[in-house]
Amino acid sequence: MAMYDLFMKPFEEKGLKGLRKKLIPKARGSVLEIGPGTGLNLPYYDPEKISSLVLMDRELNRRVLEKKLQGYPALNPDLREENVTALPYPEASFDTVIFTLVFCTVADATKGFKEIKRVLKKDGKIIFIEHIRPETEPLGKTFDILTPLWKRLAKGCHLNRKTEEHLQSLGFQLELEPKLMQSIFVGGTGNLKKTAP
Ligand SMILES: C[S@@+](CC[C@H](N)C(=O)[O-])C[C@H]1O[C@@H](n2cnc3c(N)ncnc32)[C@H](O)[C@@H]1O
Repeated sequence: MAMYDLFMKPFEEKGLKGLRKKLIPKARGSVLEIGPGTGLNLPYYDPEKISSLVLMDRELNRRVLEKKLQGYPALNPDLREENVTALPYPEASFDTVIFTLVFCTVADATKGFKEIKRVLKKDGKIIFIEHIRPETEPLGKTFDILTPLWKRLAKGCHLNRKTEEHLQSLGFQLELEPKLMQSIFVGGTGNLKKTAP
């Protein structure tokens, strides 16, 4: 088992697994997953709903992904090493764009979200799970204090991003699942408002 999977196990058992199980099967048509990491979403795709799948990561963990993918031969994805802030796809290429626990580390999150908007079809859907700044205090303030140190230890990961507000400000209409673990985790789906900027 990859170290990351071991680190994530308690969070998966406390609810993330259930959220993945609920959200990932909603992927349909041409699908782009950003930042698949070790492939924790792979068990939950419904291959019958998917016409193509691209798994792209800034630091593609090809060896681990290829090994896990042996268990899901129907998925047959294209594996690409790319950055979400510069996606090499034309406008309106995908029906579904998925990102789970990725945007805490994207240095320029606005640029990344704008790239997702560009490559998503007008009637397309995003599916996401992210950890965010908790709404409750003193947890929220504690996460603010810890973030500068945590960023240095964990590849630029922010503990205090307000990702749902950020997506909404860029024109995404979100359908959220109940937040998990004292509102540290948020997940849901979203589509572009007709009037999106
Ligand atoms: C914490 S892991 C999450 C892995 C998996 N999605 C999950 O739900 O467990 C974050 C992943 O996002 C990738 N990533 C971070 N910034 C990225 C970027 N700018 N473009 C593409 N991938 C990125 C990292 O390389 C890493 O594989």
